[in-house]
Amino acid sequence: MKTRILLIIAALFVSAGLVGQISDNSVTDLLLSAYSEREYTDEPVTEQQLDIILKSGIKSPSARNLQPWKFTVIRDTETMKAAIDNIVPGNVIIIVSGLVSQNGTTPDFDCGLATENMFIAAHGLGLGARIYTGPVRNVNQNRGLYHIPAGYNAVALLRIGNADRSVDAVSSATPRKTPDEIINKAHQ
Ligand SMILES: Cc1cc2nc3c(=O)[nH]c(=O)nc-3n(C[C@H](O)[C@H](O)[C@H](O)COP(=O)(O)O)c2cc1C
Repeated sequence: MKTRILLIIAALFVSAGLVGQISDNSVTDLLLSAYSEREYTDEPVTEQQLDIILKSGIKSPSARNLQPWKFTVIRDTETMKAAIDNIVPGNVIIIVSGLVSQNGTTPDFDCGLATENMFIAAHGLGLGARIYTGPVRNVNQNRGLYHIPAGYNAVALLRIGNADRSVDAVSSATPRKTPDEIINKAHQ
């Protein structure tokens, strides 16, 4: 089943003109194959996995190394469901909150990098993950429920869990624009 999924994902890269980038490098292979899972089993994320994911977020680069973020970990199913309705037990949500912006700082951008670091770390550990900004307004309006620290605003939510691998990878993967549409070679 795993081989079939990889073949289907490879076919998507071929159609997007990205196949030349698939290599034996585990980091680039991961970047080129990971996607944002929607369906999860109720197998819990372990504390060890969560610890590595959070440390990968802490290790993220940030402007002037300000590290203008707090990570709020939520495991309680009802609280998670209040933010993302199709949550299943065993999922974890990490709310990435940014220090309220001061002149010359870039907390939203920095928080985006930390969120992506944790997204990649989760996939590197064989887990599924999906970034959400849709629930951010609700989270900031109910800060007490989610324990958002004073002086910080939620920027993104990262959902982590064990992906349901029985889901058809073709309908799960989202196509990308082609390199020709994206890469501006005007100065070459
Ligand atoms: C900043 C950001 C915000 C997102 N917000 C949501 C969201 O609120 N709800 C959702 O279902 N997916 C959300 N996503 C997931 C995107 O829809 C998904 O990454 C995109 O469609 C590409 O699909 P793929 O990651 O599976 O390749 C978000 C992704 C990012 C990067």
